[in-house]
Amino acid sequence: MCGIVGHLGPQNSVETVLEGLKRLEYRGYDSAGVSFVDEHNELCVFKKSGKLENLKRILEGKNLVARSCIGHTRWATHGEVNDTNSHPHSNDKIAMVHNGIIENATTLKRELIEKGIKFHSETDSEVFLALLSDQVSQDVPFKQAIINSFHRITGNSAFVILNSETSEIYAIKRGAPLVCGINETSSEGLVSSDPYALAGMVHKLYFPEDDVLCHLSAANKNLLNFYELDGTKTRRYMSKTPDISATASDKGDYDHFMLKEIHEQPELIRSLTQYYFAGEGESALQDVANLRPERVHISACGTAFYAGLMIKDFLEQYNQIPTVAEIASEFRYKNPLIKSGEMGLFVSQSGETADTLAAQELCTEKGLDTISIVNVEGSTLYRNCNHNLIIRAGVEIGVASTKAFTQQVLTGRLLSYALSGDLNNPERRVALASQFNLLAERVDYLLAQEEKIKAIAKEIYERKGYFYTGRGMYFPIALEGALKLKEIAYVHAEGYASGELKHGPIALIDSEMVNVAIVGPELYDKTVSNIQEIRARKGIILTIGPKGDTDLEEISDFYISLDFSDLGDLGPLYVNVVNQMLAYYIALYKGTDIDKPRNLAKSVTVE
Ligand code: G6P
Repeated sequence: MCGIVGHLGPQNSVETVLEGLKRLEYRGYDSAGVSFVDEHNELCVFKKSGKLENLKRILEGKNLVARSCIGHTRWATHGEVNDTNSHPHSNDKIAMVHNGIIENATTLKRELIEKGIKFHSETDSEVFLALLSDQVSQDVPFKQAIINSFHRITGNSAFVILNSETSEIYAIKRGAPLVCGINETSSEGLVSSDPYALAGMVHKLYFPEDDVLCHLSAANKNLLNFYELDGTKTRRYMSKTPDISATASDKGDYDHFMLKEIHEQPELIRSLTQYYFAGEGESALQDVANLRPERVHISACGTAFYAGLMIKDFLEQYNQIPTVAEIASEFRYKNPLIKSGEMGLFVSQSGETADTLAAQELCTEKGLDTISIVNVEGSTLYRNCNHNLIIRAGVEIGVASTKAFTQQVLTGRLLSYALSGDLNNPERRVALASQFNLLAERVDYLLAQEEKIKAIAKEIYERKGYFYTGRGMYFPIALEGALKLKEIAYVHAEGYASGELKHGPIALIDSEMVNVAIVGPELYDKTVSNIQEIRARKGIILTIGPKGDTDLEEISDFYISLDFSDLGDLGPLYVNVVNQMLAYYIALYKGTDIDKPRNLAKSVTVE
């Protein structure tokens, strides 16, 4: 979704902001722009629809010396994708960028138009600029003008504002991500919607809470001050030493981040194992071990939701805790049956997904204990939950989530282990750690067989549609496999419970349809019968099944054999890596933009 970067300092601000925006490209966007104060103290604005390269092209050959600059990558919500609707929005003195949605924009716009204020774009964002300009024209001091304007809007938003008269930058947010950073050595201050944009540039990060005004100014002793909306100074922020390296944005020898991230999985599984079984993660498990929820409500979106479905199974099977898993955008509006004594569990890579955050807020309001299974430490979800288990997946750049899913499910397994009261049982501990390590070993082995999966992808990539089927713990994997393919290959794919296909979708089966049939140990015979039903209707069968099963191999057009009998409940994660690679290579043959698929955003910060 939209990306924000602002910079103040003696270094070249425009270049720094462009570098930050480049790092945010992975989140998905459709336009980009910057605004800065030049050496003649003029406010300059350049913005362009399309890729960041288009913006860079119009900046070429220009003198871009500036000591403060704000920039933005837009993912359109209000108004089509064009240069005018791109951010920053500006008048002759003020420029601003916005992430989120101003829900009462239509009402406010009507009121402002009646006052004679003119609008140039179709965006909701420009309403904030109009409110601010109106305040400033009435001689309200700048800081107060921002506060007054912010009070008027509803919805979740983050704004970064540049005042050209002072070269100062202000930032404020409610329910949207925002982070500030300071580099004391070079006297630089930065602000962004994503700490990744600031990696390697700052020594300290500050995550302001909602309704805290951040003020970056050369006039401030430490460059950065924080204010409450009543104007008093505040410490309502979380500070943290950055732990993301700027080199995370390097694809290394891989053609795509997605492929790199698929290959990172064995090492990440090992590092997660070490962290939770013999490292600092042990205390996080202790922290949740004493919780005794009557019921667990899991809420998440996209891939994280499918990880949630697997975690639901763990909690029900091993802990006998009734667990409900619900898509966050549904949960938040359905007046869910929740009460204190129960627990809200939220799964998210970014920790900034708007619907997941709203679901968490709802649980807190109703008095539930809340836990996150999250990748980004310091994210809004992380800060808002009572307990956190981090998944340690590192930065995930590919829009289609791969390594985060594996780490989320494993972390969910650890939660179930902690809740079972087995933390101090050495046998259980060794058994589970060995199972994790065995998974890492098997995934290593599988990745070495990539060519085989690539060859199958070449045979099937032009087919009309794909049904992924599985049972039990392999059903969420079927859903996730189909989602992966849809996201990056732009083909129709659906995940189904194997036994359900004949209740409708089987009508679609013909020689152009592929059935990716996942055959786990559960209900083996039944699943094989389901494959026969597809085969009888001339569907193409690609089976992912147990090693050495010649009968199954015989009834399949393609067979990927896996040694997962001894992996137990982690077998589905092993199979999922096949699905990740299959989606990757089908997309590669189709020639799509794998790391930045059309219309998708890495982190969906609006509803
Ligand atoms: C977007 C991404 C998905 C992701 C989902 C949830 O739709 O494209 O890959 O699974 O958001 O994101 P989260 O950061 O909460 O895991």
